[in-house]
Amino acid sequence: MNKILIIDFGGQYNQLIARRVREQHVYCEVRPHTMTLEEIRRFQPIGIIFTGGPHSVYLPDAPKPDPGVFTLGVPILGICYGCQLLTQELGGTVTPAREDSAREYGKTQTSFDPACPLFHGLPESSVTWMSHGDYVARIPEGFCLTARSAACPTAAMSDESRRFYGVQFHPEVNHTEYGLEILHNFLFGICRAAGDWTMADFKRRVIGELRGRIQDGRVLLALSGGVDSSVLAALLSEAVGHQLNCVFVDHGLLRKNEGDEVESAFSGRKLAFRRVNAQTRFLSRLKGVTEPEEKRHRVGEEFIRVFEDEAKAIGKVDYLAQGTIYPDVIESGLGQSAVIKSHHNVGGLPDHVEFREILEPLRLLFKDEVRQLGRELGLPESLVSRQPFPGVGLAIRVIGEVTEEKLSLLREADAIFRDEMARAGLDRMSSQYFAVLTNLRSVGVMGDGRSYDYAVALRSVQTSDFMTADWSRLPYELLDRVSVRIVNEVHGVNRVLYDVTSKPPATVEYE
Ligand code: XMP
Repeated sequence: MNKILIIDFGGQYNQLIARRVREQHVYCEVRPHTMTLEEIRRFQPIGIIFTGGPHSVYLPDAPKPDPGVFTLGVPILGICYGCQLLTQELGGTVTPAREDSAREYGKTQTSFDPACPLFHGLPESSVTWMSHGDYVARIPEGFCLTARSAACPTAAMSDESRRFYGVQFHPEVNHTEYGLEILHNFLFGICRAAGDWTMADFKRRVIGELRGRIQDGRVLLALSGGVDSSVLAALLSEAVGHQLNCVFVDHGLLRKNEGDEVESAFSGRKLAFRRVNAQTRFLSRLKGVTEPEEKRHRVGEEFIRVFEDEAKAIGKVDYLAQGTIYPDVIESGLGQSAVIKSHHNVGGLPDHVEFREILEPLRLLFKDEVRQLGRELGLPESLVSRQPFPGVGLAIRVIGEVTEEKLSLLREADAIFRDEMARAGLDRMSSQYFAVLTNLRSVGVMGDGRSYDYAVALRSVQTSDFMTADWSRLPYELLDRVSVRIVNEVHGVNRVLYDVTSKPPATVEYE
């Protein structure tokens, strides 16, 4: 397999580099800069990318690659800090930019030498995204200058004989007009990648690896019905079939029909699937509880208790499978704390379950790749394209005390909202949308009578990272249809509100 190695120097766009490479069907991995030469050799990259980073290459504590990396005969592309590293390590000079001189931040008009293979097919001038305080003052011997901007004497440089390329700007960022083309030139023109990495290949390979590793061992998976654990269940069931035990805890805080959907997606497969109907246990733990944090705490703890009981009933387990995905791995220091983190992923795991190892077969995939793998494994689209849903479920979407009656009002209202969003073709446009049963009751008039019922709030947000979010500008006609249907079809609700608050200052969820 053609592989690109991305050596991480702590830049903020590192995940984006990996995304851009994989989008072009070239497999890549982000690895720490502490990787030894032997490890790099074993990885067998056809090309190496040095990422950006917050450090200054000339300071004593600057992260550096193993110097042997320059002797492998493999093409290298250094981005920003990576470009400065090439410079410093190969005999050039990097200097701090004085205020208002070669320091650049933001969109920058840059002129290119189209004769350089990295810039083939590009116009002579276009916009790039710069973000640097240091700059390359003198390029190393053997290199030529291949791009410049008004402020930066060396926007790019290349050494054709060794196939080393440095760019001061960030080709992975969308603001760089021809960034994708530049990466494409590196991958295909320079590294000669085949561009044949597909999810079908990944599936075949990972299933083979899992079989080799698990042998006749037993695997336990806590299945939540979310995308990651569902895809993992399907993958493991193809790999080791009946050696897999899936425990799906239905805590009674799922959306309408969700438990049945998860069950029907898995019951036909050759795996031991167990749905634990623990609704009563959870509801009784939530009785009288109104404080949001207390609700979360109790649901989390009860989940562990139920899972413990199930694990005991299953008996000896060799492997515990977890749906850790690539952003979790990269964010948690490139796997160095994977085991600690994996405990959080399933929503808390009992310590005493005996297992030999943790399996995390999705740890190299991004979320949309996990979805693609799910399709490849034949999971229904309704499961694969599911929006995020908190583990604590509807407990935090029923404001105040959670009761069966309130949950059922909310499930109906939420199902109507989801149905209308899907009919309007807006379900894929919104990052997350749902209904909330507020604790507000108000007076209404229905028929000739007075009503005193609950108000439902509708929430829909646009976001890429869920750290900040904007409320979705949904069409009034859609909101009208949802409102009319909810007050007509859900008895106990007489008012529908649409939430027009962004995050911050609000959060996506209400509790
Ligand atoms: P907030 O409300 O913090 O939500 O703006 C951001 C994203 O996180 C999800 N969320 C959770 N997911 N367990 C989860 O698995 C939780 O306790 C939890 N709380 C919030 C929320 O749905 C949104 O996608």
